[in-house]
Amino acid sequence: MNNNEMKVEFLSRSVNEGFARAVVSSFVSQLDPTIEELSDIKTAVSEAVTNSIIHAYPNVEGKITVKGRLVENEVELEISDNGVGIENVEKAKEPLFTTKGNLERSGMGFAIMENFMDELNVESILGLGTKITMKKKIKKYAFDNNKFCK
Ligand SMILES: Nc1ncnc2c1ncn2[C@@H]1O[C@H](COP(=O)(O)OP(=O)(O)O)[C@@H](O)[C@H]1O
Ligand SMILES: [Mg+2]
Repeated sequence: MNNNEMKVEFLSRSVNEGFARAVVSSFVSQLDPTIEELSDIKTAVSEAVTNSIIHAYPNVEGKITVKGRLVENEVELEISDNGVGIENVEKAKEPLFTTKGNLERSGMGFAIMENFMDELNVESILGLGTKITMKKKIKKYAFDNNKFCK
């Protein structure tokens, strides 16, 4: 059994989006993901962390926590903040819904997380914060046709 856990906390500065991607990418590498699997996970993490930076702490600096867990060949990620919270989670998850319309790729963050990961769960309480949990299975390599493939 090769299960593992990690937790990092950082400030809601845009420079830390890259930091979060790098940490998660490095942690998940233990499961030997393909470049595509890793890229999907990094994109989903970017979307969640960017949301905490932009939406959770609009005019203040706050803390963002990223937790990772590997259970067999599955990655579980939790991105949480103590920011403003989301008034209506179902509505927020709809493609193209945004409360900040002037940004590029507006309103697609949750749709991207949902698409690139196997599971997405959003919990939020107004004034207290938001917790995103995502899961993705990393396919195992198999020996086939005299070579390793997924
Ligand atoms: N961590 C968060 N804290 C507060 N509000 C959030 C958070 N994440 C998402 N939201 C809300 O959900 C909406 C939709 O998010 P998303 O799909 O990523 O689109 P976008 O970020 O482009 O607005 C945001 O506009 C915002 O109102
Ligand atoms: Mg977003």
